[in-house]
Amino acid sequence: MQKPIVVVGSINLDLVVGADRIPQVGETIIGHTFNTFHGGKGANQAVAAAKLGYPVSMVGNVGNDAFGTQLRNGLEDAGVDSTYVNTVEGASGVALITTGRGGENNIVVVPGANGHLTPEQLEKAATILEHAGLLLTQLEIPLETVEYLAQFAERHNIPLMLDPAPARELSGKLLRKVSWITPNETETEKLLRTNFENGDQGAYAAAECLLDCGVKNVLLKLGSRGCLIAQGTLAKERVPAFSVNAVDTTGAGDAFNAGFAVGLMRGSTVARSAIFACAVAAISVTHHGAQPSMPTWAEVKAFVNNRLGSEASFLAVESKV
Ligand code: ATP
Ligand code: RIB
Repeated sequence: MQKPIVVVGSINLDLVVGADRIPQVGETIIGHTFNTFHGGKGANQAVAAAKLGYPVSMVGNVGNDAFGTQLRNGLEDAGVDSTYVNTVEGASGVALITTGRGGENNIVVVPGANGHLTPEQLEKAATILEHAGLLLTQLEIPLETVEYLAQFAERHNIPLMLDPAPARELSGKLLRKVSWITPNETETEKLLRTNFENGDQGAYAAAECLLDCGVKNVLLKLGSRGCLIAQGTLAKERVPAFSVNAVDTTGAGDAFNAGFAVGLMRGSTVARSAIFACAVAAISVTHHGAQPSMPTWAEVKAFVNNRLGSEASFLAVESKV
């Protein structure tokens, strides 16, 4: 029996403007598209893992507005168990997003209901949390809730994967309770309170500093350069990204985290799970929107077979699905 992935995190409606480029401060430009997509880092990770065929439960909040109903239905349609998604008084979380032609974006999140996800709500969800095989969280919910979850994970000996996004500084006390931390370059610099050199050497040094902070395992997300795995004294390993035509990178990091989590839960090695994660994320950036761009297991399998052929060894885990 597979232990579920449980995601504790945000649920947003993304209001997305497509433009030729991201405007500068004080500048007005003409955009060419406007769309709404289901998003939120927590919900994106939950939906991505469910679309990969893994059992997932979500703990989070939506507001009692029209968006809330729509967002809850979206989770359920994707196969995410939403028993512990509460409807609270007020507005659902929203994200105002501008995307440019090269797939780049900028995002402003207004947390709304996500800001009311309290430790008490996690206490009520203890039954589902303590049966998790892996806990996933991010930083679009109150920090005290993330800290409570980290304590819970430690007490129950359940691995916790923290996506430290949006970027902010975190205490060593919290970092020491994290099994996997998955920052991108900006988030890494915020965590370490310093800039690091571009290129592999800088990434290796940054990963080492994060390990020194007490995190057990580090997975640095390096955008179109892929990722870097750092585990204790083991040799660090960089996994290249797959080359694709990126149209919208919103949610790439979430696709990556979900892919990595599913790989691990299916018993794959860390390196193979990272390759799988890069494939899931690469497919996601070739489509618009966060949740609509998350691929199914069959899509990832076809993509990896096409790109890696007989080297697609991560599929060895398929028999365990
Ligand atoms: P997000 O845009 O969701 O905030 P992020 O900044 O957290 O993403 P990135 O490092 O940008 O994380 O991307 C996560 C992963 O997605 C990368 O490790 C890589 O595997 C994949 N990825 C991102 N951009 C591209 C790209 N242009 N081409 C191929 N793969 C990509
Ligand atoms: O990681 C992408 C997500 O960040 C978007 O879906 C948006 O909702 C913001 O939370």
